[in-house]
Amino acid sequence: MANTQSTTALERIITQLTQDHDQVNQLFREYKRLMDTEAPDAQREATAAHICNALTVHAAIEEEIFYPAARAVLPEDKEELMDHAEVEHGSLKQLIAAIEGGSAEDAHFDARVHVLAEYVTHHVKEEEDEMFSELRQAVEGHDFSATLAQMNTRRTELESQLGQSDPTKKPAQKATSMVKPAAPSKRPRVAQATARKQITSSGSAKKKGQQK
Ligand SMILES: [Fe+2]
Ligand SMILES: [Fe+2]
Repeated sequence: MANTQSTTALERIITQLTQDHDQVNQLFREYKRLMDTEAPDAQREATAAHICNALTVHAAIEEEIFYPAARAVLPEDKEELMDHAEVEHGSLKQLIAAIEGGSAEDAHFDARVHVLAEYVTHHVKEEEDEMFSELRQAVEGHDFSATLAQMNTRRTELESQLGQSDPTKKPAQKATSMVKPAAPSKRPRVAQATARKQITSSGSAKKKGQQK
């Protein structure tokens, strides 16, 4: 029988990650509504920024903490699931960078967000239907309590660095705070890019530190 404490910690991790998936899915639906109603550029940019921030935090937590913990538990023949997920994260991050570096006035802005939604839907389905399922079968005898605590700590750090508040906050509230000033300015994006660079570097350092 699986260790109850380990199973509970893993289920809490899976619940949190699934909530993140649902939240970003909701944001993509909001973006589509804005497109369909031909909402102003600033509103679409703000929602796109919220999507990118939410995905950046989620992907970093997975890559730095959750994926390595999953690798350590999964049988060798299931590790390709983790390789696959990491490669998909790479593609997601490229699109996120293109969206963050662009503007809603760009011809391909909406298309990039749309393709990002498709990538994320595909990736999330594989995580929820395959990775989480395999982990549930492999969890016996492994303690995920420390992983859960690390993920929560890291989430708080990342959200603070990216200026995020409560992730359950309504997109509209978040969007308002992220709307660009009327005068074109690259400064907010530069600041955001700098914060992201710091996250990436610290993430790499953490990942290396975790490798044995
Ligand atoms: Fe992922
Ligand atoms: Fe995920």
